Amino acid sequence: MANRWEADLAEQGDLSMPLTIRLARAEDLPVLEWYGLHTPHREIIATGFAMQERGNGVFIVAEVNGFPGGQVCIDFARKQRYGRATLWALRVFPPLRGAGLGVRLMAAAERCALSRGIMEAELGVDRDNAGVLGFYDRLGYAVHGTEKGRYSYRTPGGELVHLPIDQWILRKRLRPAANLSAAL
Ligand SMILES: CC(C)(COP(=O)(O)OP(=O)(O)OC[C@H]1O[C@@H](n2cnc3c(N)ncnc32)[C@H](O)[C@@H]1OP(=O)(O)O)[C@@H](O)C(=O)NCCC(=O)NCCS
Repeated sequence: MANRWEADLAEQGDLSMPLTIRLARAEDLPVLEWYGLHTPHREIIATGFAMQERGNGVFIVAEVNGFPGGQVCIDFARKQRYGRATLWALRVFPPLRGAGLGVRLMAAAERCALSRGIMEAELGVDRDNAGVLGFYDRLGYAVHGTEKGRYSYRTPGGELVHLPIDQWILRKRLRPAANLSAAL
């Protein structure tokens, strides 16, 4: 009997929802904690936004049906002397992964760097996140070495977290009119 009820209610389909790629706004910041998933990283989220406010960075969000479900930050200052933009904190809300938001955010970040006359993008991939290397490879990023270091942040609860950085450094020469359709 239960199975018949289940069959009656079942439906499958595809949802098409509005997507906007835009700069982050102050009111996005609490929502970008994604229901607690990134609450410990509140200070890091705020740092990305503060860089945008100061003009030495950009914080891009992918808004899906009104929800900021993806983000990527650009730091223009860190590798400015090498003519590179540093992309960081690319992430997509887990239920929205695999729908093309990551590729679109990367393309938006690259257009943003190019519009400032920056011809090379750089990013770090944690060595325990090797699975994502294929994603960047498809977008034209190549490994150019490794970098080690440390960073710290304070959680909203006041705990100071120290983390080692052990990353591959990936780079890509940017070309105007980044070819999004080829990557999709
Ligand atoms: C990496 C990430 C941003 C990709 O976002 P996304 O919206 O899922 O990416 P897209 O839908 O644009 O994916 C494009 C392709 O890359 C692949 N891909 C994405 N993440 C991948 C991963 N971790 N490992 C392997 N392949 C991956 C997808 O399978 C897809 O390939 P397909 O079209 O052949 O299926 C997302 O998986 C994420 O937030 N991961 C956790 C945070 C993270 O690791 N960020 C990168 C830090 S360097």
